[in-house]
Amino acid sequence: GAGKSTIARRVAKELSFIYVDTGAMYRAMALYLLHKNVDRTNTEQIGEVCQNAEISIEYQNGEQIVLLNGVNAYLRTEEVGNMASVSSAVPRVREKLLSLQRKLAKDMSVVMDGRDIGTTILPDADVKIYLTASSLTRAKRRYLELQEKGTVCDLDNIQKDIEERDQRDMNREISPLRQAEDAVLVDSSDLTIEQVVDRILEIFRARTEEGASHES
Ligand code: DC
Repeated sequence: GAGKSTIARRVAKELSFIYVDTGAMYRAMALYLLHKNVDRTNTEQIGEVCQNAEISIEYQNGEQIVLLNGVNAYLRTEEVGNMASVSSAVPRVREKLLSLQRKLAKDMSVVMDGRDIGTTILPDADVKIYLTASSLTRAKRRYLELQEKGTVCDLDNIQKDIEERDQRDMNREISPLRQAEDAVLVDSSDLTIEQVVDRILEIFRARTEEGASHES
């Protein structure tokens, strides 16, 4: 809702980097758990069942495709998003995806989007952005997106869902959503996508030039 994936994708394109959407990996895992009818309150069961999911990444025309057991599945539903927020709090789910994410960043120049990238996955990243927006702005964006798809929805419910998900993501024990100390905060509430992309590219250039002058 803050525009994370749209913005990260555009920044990656401008820099000719690969875009990595880690939320999609958690969503693929959630879809698998939904298919397996796991009990969402049973952490142990989720930890067991997740071991059998095979998540991999492919790139087609520069777009990331997440494969679940070899199949490209549709991941952007509210049901999958809500399950992802629950299952991503389970340590064994995170362990399973951590190595895949680190490997991608080791092999390529990436813009990686996700809640714990700056704090846990890539603590030594060259540039870290903490992108946020008010829950009302995010709910309105989501509402418009769903309306465009012809889905009946209610703004208050969407906002409530977003706030609940934030609470879960920020208060979980493992890898909670928080701003890394060396991350730059960008609030997209009153900015257009283009303005946010420009701001991030500015931050990137300033940081990397700074880094280069320290080295020389
Ligand atoms: O960004 P998204 O809505 O696609 O993410 C779906 C869920 O996955 C979100 O509620 C929290 C979780 N997630 C996470 O815990 N860590 C990440 N790096 C990315 C997503």
